[in-house]
Amino acid sequence: MSLLNILCYPDPRLHKVAVPVTEFDDKLRQLVADMLETMYKAEGVGLAATQVNVHQRLVVMDTSEERNQAIVLINPEITWYSEERVKGEEGCLSVPGIYDGVERAVAVRVQAADEHGQVRELEAKGLMAVCVQHELDHLMGKVFVEYLSPLKRNRIKTKMLKAQKEAA
Ligand code: NI
Repeated sequence: MSLLNILCYPDPRLHKVAVPVTEFDDKLRQLVADMLETMYKAEGVGLAATQVNVHQRLVVMDTSEERNQAIVLINPEITWYSEERVKGEEGCLSVPGIYDGVERAVAVRVQAADEHGQVRELEAKGLMAVCVQHELDHLMGKVFVEYLSPLKRNRIKTKMLKAQKEAA
């Protein structure tokens, strides 16, 4: 297993649209294992392949307290959104240190394959529902800061670029 490099906003590669996974092979399962390791190490609740510069429809998440309930979503599609929506604080491993409110559906149903190609549907609510919507946005090239006002987004962009320059 190995840790993967996480792209940081405003890296343009975060805006690439992912393509469906077609091969459910050992290479894919290795990528899933590496993404899970990377997510746990970074203490995130979700990671999309886009964030590690792999532009395929693949997401890993774990929203459990114990950090022992990994969920792998391959070629995920949201099949149902609750009408009820709520604004909650979100963060992202690609936008370290930034948290802001985003409105999302309270619950969703998502259909996806696991790393063996087995398709199933699961219902998510609360943090898990937020995570599903946030991670699926990544696969479409969308980062959560794009829901914020242009003013806020520009401030974040400037802050991130400055931090990246200092770290280099
Ligand atoms: Ni994110």
